[in-house]
Amino acid sequence: MSFEVLSGSGIYLDHNATTPPAVGLKSVVTEVLEYWGNPSSIHWAGHKPKILMREAREKLAKLLEVHPMELVFTSGGTEANNQALRGLYLQAQEDSPERRRVVVSAVEHPSVLKTAEVLHSMGADLQIVPVSREGKLDLSVFEELLKTPVALVSVMYANNETGHIFPIKKMAKMARAAGAMFHTDCVQTLGKLPLNLGQLDVDMATFSGHKFYGLKGAGLLYCRRGVRWKTQITGGAQERGRRAGTENLLSIVSMGHMVEALSSVESYAKSMGELRDYLESEVQKRISGIEITGSASKRLPNTSHMIIKGVDGEILLMNLDMEGFAVSTGAACSSGSPEPSPTLLAMGFQRDEAQSSLRLSLGWENTKEEVDQFLDVLEAVVLRVRRLES
Ligand SMILES: Cc1ncc(COP(=O)(O)O)c(C=O)c1O
Repeated sequence: MSFEVLSGSGIYLDHNATTPPAVGLKSVVTEVLEYWGNPSSIHWAGHKPKILMREAREKLAKLLEVHPMELVFTSGGTEANNQALRGLYLQAQEDSPERRRVVVSAVEHPSVLKTAEVLHSMGADLQIVPVSREGKLDLSVFEELLKTPVALVSVMYANNETGHIFPIKKMAKMARAAGAMFHTDCVQTLGKLPLNLGQLDVDMATFSGHKFYGLKGAGLLYCRRGVRWKTQITGGAQERGRRAGTENLLSIVSMGHMVEALSSVESYAKSMGELRDYLESEVQKRISGIEITGSASKRLPNTSHMIIKGVDGEILLMNLDMEGFAVSTGAACSSGSPEPSPTLLAMGFQRDEAQSSLRLSLGWENTKEEVDQFLDVLEAVVLRVRRLES
């Protein structure tokens, strides 16, 4: 399937960091700029912005099979995760103070892990569910942790570095039976897998527009009807008092614009999956000492994470960049850090293995020709780097 994005200056294989905006957004930008009013204004200038926001909310709600009022616009995934964890925990402390336990997985995005640590410093009993080297989350530990009163559980739908998918539906059911709230970070899921939030039966879920070909600066917090939480952004009455601050209309409308394309996600997932499988089988044929991370476990169809033995990931990345390929060693938010990925260390990888990692994340627009070009360059670069490092 073909899909048009704004082109960069090379071949882009880092869609888990951010996606290039859809070409169709050019006309959205021009249109929304005409309507610069404040969506909360009662006068003429606020009318169209209000309508544009309502349309975006309705389209997104239909896609996710939830009620429009269950969606709260935020500034992105980080804010939505902060709102969910802090908001649910503080509400639980008011409603049932005996529920002090907070449960997260070992491989959450820093916007969840670091927020959970803040809750711990505020008195929460923070517990971590381990994830194996193969990318499997330990459900027996989770079951055990639910035996003490839990305020909230936050487990991501799919991991940003390795692409591993966790059994959210099952975990949400277990959490609910134990009386705990359940939040899931779906930032890496939308645009890569079909998603029906109603069926998942979670209390809260996080999304971010710039991961599904929209603009940066807007995200979504799904908040199931009836769920109470304390907003962390206080001020005006926007979003029915659930998230104060004048809305980022342009980015919000860009998310709504993506809904039509997102309804074809099944076909995109299929083509990305075939391309990813081809890439992995070719890499293993052409380059020695490759370990694909947890390839037997359930993964996002676009993500390939691998350890390339004897090759420093940062050096590899810089060499590939010089050849025009955008890839990463792991999460974009921690790149440039000399420390190996906390996610990989938590999964039991050694430091030197974690420092030899490469993450490739494909998008709807990538082609076999691009992957073939990448394979040729990767093979040559790995040879060169190994020669220099030996
Ligand atoms: C799993 C996950 N959660 C949350 C975020 C944060 O989203 P945002 O960049 O919109 O703040 C990211 C971004 O990389 C992510 O991958």
